[in-house]
Amino acid sequence: MATMKQVALAAYPQGNPRPEDFRIEDAPVPEPGEGEVLLKTLWLALDPLIRFAIDEKPLTGITHVALGEVMYGPAVSLVVKSNHPDYAPGDVVEGRTGWREYAVVAPDRSDYRGPPRKVDPALAPVQTALGALGMPGETAYVGMIDTGRVQAGETVVLSAAAGAVGGVAGQIGKLKGARVVGIAGGPEKCAALLEQGFDGAADYKAPDFAQQLARACPEGIDLYFDNVGGEVTLTVMAQMKRGGRMAICGFIAYHGVGMEGPGPDRLPGFFRMLNAKSLEIRGFAGMMAGPEARTSLAAWYRDGKLAAPEAVVEGLEAAPAAFAGVFSGNSFVGKLLVKVSEPT
Ligand SMILES: NC(=O)c1ccc[n+]([C@@H]2O[C@H](COP(=O)([O-])OP(=O)(O)OC[C@H]3O[C@@H](n4cnc5c(N)ncnc54)[C@H](OP(=O)(O)O)[C@@H]3O)[C@@H](O)[C@H]2O)c1
Repeated sequence: MATMKQVALAAYPQGNPRPEDFRIEDAPVPEPGEGEVLLKTLWLALDPLIRFAIDEKPLTGITHVALGEVMYGPAVSLVVKSNHPDYAPGDVVEGRTGWREYAVVAPDRSDYRGPPRKVDPALAPVQTALGALGMPGETAYVGMIDTGRVQAGETVVLSAAAGAVGGVAGQIGKLKGARVVGIAGGPEKCAALLEQGFDGAADYKAPDFAQQLARACPEGIDLYFDNVGGEVTLTVMAQMKRGGRMAICGFIAYHGVGMEGPGPDRLPGFFRMLNAKSLEIRGFAGMMAGPEARTSLAAWYRDGKLAAPEAVVEGLEAAPAAFAGVFSGNSFVGKLLVKVSEPT
């Protein structure tokens, strides 16, 4: 019997995930039944949102991985066998099939994850369906265009700007004529942002972060696209213009701290700033993206106006350490991907 590798959840992470929270296993390659399709995983996306699925007690989000189960996560895969009329061997698809080398899906019985969507290899490298031309790109689009309502001439600040969502959101800001300033951890990531066309960058790990941000935004901030929360956000808020807007995309500083975190309670300062600056704050979900998001991103990519930077680690076994590094520090710029196999 043919076997494959898969990654199971070995322990619920306490705080940030650690590589030891996951276990590499051998398992039989599954056989597709009636109406089912066998997929060979080519690429995995190590999205920070996966962290919500492995909280011991589910808080928000609709997916929960129990101990011993295969890790949940988005993947781009090759159809290798099909008992379904809409899918043929050789098709490339994107779906939430998890950290495994092969997966069987039943498109007609698919749950909230939806049937695998076809990826057009003629448009772009197929792994962009997990980054700039997929969920992170669509999230960036919704956050900048619909929620943030970015305008030409505005100063926009983005946190986790060297990541998948922030990188695309920054490019959308530039396409719309805004001045775009990115926040990232460390001088190397900040230098990479400037190389990518950001107008300014600030290193939130540096002791003079607030001063760096003030130098990059001398007239204050009109729109803050927030991916992180925490101290970074409190520092940015103090430099918002009166009536500024905050589009709350994510809060990676709070993944794994439950609903309250260890404290201290920073809400008094938060409310004071909100009130004093008449700020508008609105959360949003990338799932709200309409078809125009995907169409616009594809057109920008085709016209050479949108880049899709990526960082690649090799092999399924590399997934646990790379995923842990998303929360505890890494040097990756762009969409973080695991290359699992070749499409042969
Ligand atoms: N609203 C939605 O529908 C939606 C959809 C997708 C993603 N999100 C959220 O958007 C955020 C970014 O996602 P992504 O896919 O772009 O992530 P990503 O590419 O994996 O980048 C995440 C980056 O966040 C930074 N980071 C990690 N911990 C941090 C902390 N404690 N404080 C400040 N920065 C920290 C790290 O960069 P540095 O080295 O620069 O620290 C890390 O590389 C996440 O919070 C994610 O959950 C929301």
